[in-house]
Order: sequence, then structure tokens, then C-alpha cells
Amino acid sequence: MLRPDVHDVRRRDFLRWLAASPLLASAGGLAAFEPVIAQEAPRRVFDDIVQSAEDALDIWDLQRAAEVTVPTAHYGYIMTGVDGEETYANNRASLERLRLRARRLVDVSNLDTRVNLFGREWPTPIMIAPCGSQRAFHAEGELAVARAAASRTHLQTLSTVSSTAVEEVNEARGEPVWYQLYLAPVGPGSWEGATALMQRSRDAGCPTIVYTVDLQGGSNRVSLERYRRVDDRTCTNCHTPGGRAGGPKPNLRGLPRGEPDPGLGRSTTWETIPRLRDATDQRFIIKGIMTAEDAELCVRYGVDAVWVSNHGGRSEGSGQATIDALPEIADAVSGRIPVIVDSGFRRGSDIVKGIARGATAVAVGRPYLWGLGAFGQEGVERALDILTREMQITMRAIGAPSLADLGPHTIAEP
Ligand SMILES: Cc1cc2nc3c(=O)[nH]c(=O)nc-3n(C[C@H](O)[C@H](O)[C@H](O)COP(=O)(O)O)c2cc1C
Repeated sequence: MLRPDVHDVRRRDFLRWLAASPLLASAGGLAAFEPVIAQEAPRRVFDDIVQSAEDALDIWDLQRAAEVTVPTAHYGYIMTGVDGEETYANNRASLERLRLRARRLVDVSNLDTRVNLFGREWPTPIMIAPCGSQRAFHAEGELAVARAAASRTHLQTLSTVSSTAVEEVNEARGEPVWYQLYLAPVGPGSWEGATALMQRSRDAGCPTIVYTVDLQGGSNRVSLERYRRVDDRTCTNCHTPGGRAGGPKPNLRGLPRGEPDPGLGRSTTWETIPRLRDATDQRFIIKGIMTAEDAELCVRYGVDAVWVSNHGGRSEGSGQATIDALPEIADAVSGRIPVIVDSGFRRGSDIVKGIARGATAVAVGRPYLWGLGAFGQEGVERALDILTREMQITMRAIGAPSLADLGPHTIAEP
């Protein structure tokens, strides 16, 4: 899709550069460059911003569209990692560095991408990661995501700090989602509040608690601050100074405050896990694991699944990519409980790499947020369709007709 404004500006820039260049005279004047100028036009097609979800060819098309539609500071909230973005960048770099080994002459006429998690079968291993404040990206926020997840049958986990209450999201989804739990620094810092929050999600029918443990040390979100500084809107029109828009998040409203619990917050340790796990009969998963030692502890403490994550590069500035942490974790867990991974997965081939390195399922965050921000429910559906289609094509192309055919042998060691 051509946008004349962009095209004209680029063409003008090129001509201005050319006029000032000594090349012009030595090459025989402007006429010598006419073919180059004429050729320049079609290239604009690749630079352009897609105008509808169905025009998006890959996840990056959705990202570019969201950059235009989502308010700058809110877009910054999606994009930010920590420090100089080393962990964010390495999540991608490590996935891109991995190569797949392609087997030939395999019958790939039937593809099996089903995955079974706790007795429930899903058509693909692609899951929706919990991301807060989705109405900051599109007016329909979590409801649009829930409808998209339902229409494409993907497992969805809802954030504690969602901008829509869990009961409404479950209604839009048509079945209860998994529920992500924050205790501190966001979330209730009291035992009473924590158990009331879990109870609320249980009453709403959520079968699974996903307890996120990777922000306990805080996070240095430099990029978010940079985006904020170039957003000329007045944040305090909606946000309290330094705070959240619209008061407490819907899932936290009406919770008992309780006494701050010294065991919840910066000082939480593994000893809190049995206490939390035993406070509910929901399944209990820990999100944010990055080492074999902690994966082993998850198994020892009776956790139902390990979720390998560095919060999409927005928790620690370790530089360690999740795809690189995955093999030692999968080895440590050794099939005893499912392993979920996220952070940096943008291509169907990335999903294949995650499964090959030992994940049971792969979750995505920004890919569907970009879809949401750009085109609402249709954008989320497009993101899920793109990832699914790319995954299927990759599996056929490398001669792996089922997820069970993927393993360490699928990866070409450098
Ligand atoms: C804007 C945004 C908000 C997020 N909010 C939460 C959250 O509330 N709870 C949580 O456990 N993880 C949260 N995450 C992390 C995601 O669950 C997931 O780990 C991460 O997005 C995966 O990386 P990816 O975005 O590169 O796919 C958030 C991520 C983003 C980008």
C-alpha cells in the first residue's frame, strides 16, 4: 500500500541529497540518475504501514502499525526492556542464531501440532502470556484478546493488573482463563489480600494460578522513561502522579488490605511457596524461572509447571536469553512437569525452536499486544494466525510432521 506522503518525502530527501552531491556532476547530471529515482518508488511498498490486520504478513507488520496507533508512552510500555535492552535483544539474537536441521522426503501431509496440558488438549502450543493494562493499547483491551483467544482456541493467562476484571474476561473468553498472580511490589502485599485474590480467581473458575517471581528485585525500565519524555500528552489527566490510571486495578478492587506480610515482597523465599500453594486447590505454576537449580526447586516444592521467562527482557538485565536457559531447565525437569517458555518469540520457526529445546508450550506477549494496539481483536487473531501458519510451514519444511518429532536433533549446533 503506497502512502504518497511518505513516498514524496523520501523522494524529496533523495533529490536533495543528490543535488548536493559531487556525484551529480561527475556522473553526467540528473538525467544519469533518472533510472535510480524511478526504481526507488516500488521499494516504498516494503516500508509501508499496513492499514488492516489481514494485510499484515508477519508480526513485524503489526509492530509497525501499533507504533502509529498506540499513544507514545503506552507504546513505550509495550516495548521497554531494562537497562540498555541487552536481555531484550539477546532473547531475539539467540533465537535468530539457532539453526534448524531440515530432513527431506518425510510424509508431511498430516500435521499434528496438538499439545496436552493437564488433560486439556490445545490445537497448538502457542499461548497468550499475561500482560497488564491492555486497555492502554486498545479500548477493548483484554476483552478483545479473550475473544481472539476463543475464536482461535489458544490458552490465555490474565494478568493480576489487567484493566478488565477476571469475571468479565472469562465471560468474553467463554471459559475461565489461567490467572497470573503478583504479590509485590505490585499486587497485595498482605497474606489476607493474596489469599482473597486467589480466591476471587477461583470463584471465577480459573483452574490455574501462575505466580510471577521475576520482578521481586525491581526493574530498571530506561526505555519506558525515554518514551514518556517524548509523549506530549499530560499523563496526569488519567494517571495519578507516579501511579496508575483509574485507581486500583479492577482485580485488586475491594480486596482486604490486611497487614503487610514481611514474607511477601522483596523478602519472599521458596519457603513461601508451600504456604501459597496450599492456600488454594488451583494448579500452581511459577513464571520467571531461568536456571536449572530453580526448576529443580519448583519440582521439589510441588509446583505444577515451570514457566521459563525473563518477562520479555523487562525483569533482570542479565543478558541471558530464555531460549539459552531452556535446555538446562528442560534437562532438570526431565518431563516430570510441563515447561512453558516465553520472551522474544516472533516467528513460527521460533516456536519450533522452543519446542525442540524442550518446551511443552510457548507463550507470546508483545506479538499479540501489537496486533491488539493496531487492530483490536482482528489484530490479535492475525498475530495468532501468522504464528500458527509459520509454525506449520516450518514443521512441514523441516520434515517434522508432529511436535513429538522435534527435539535436540532438530537444532544445528553452531
Ligand atoms: C506490556 C507488557 C505487560 C506485561 N505485564 C505482565 C504482567 O502483568 N504479569 C506478568 O507475569 N508478565 C507480564 N509481562 C510479561 C509477559 O507475560 C511475557 O513474559 C513477555 O511479554 C514475553 O515476552 P515477549 O513480549 O517478548 O513475547 C508483560 C509484558 C509486556 C510486554
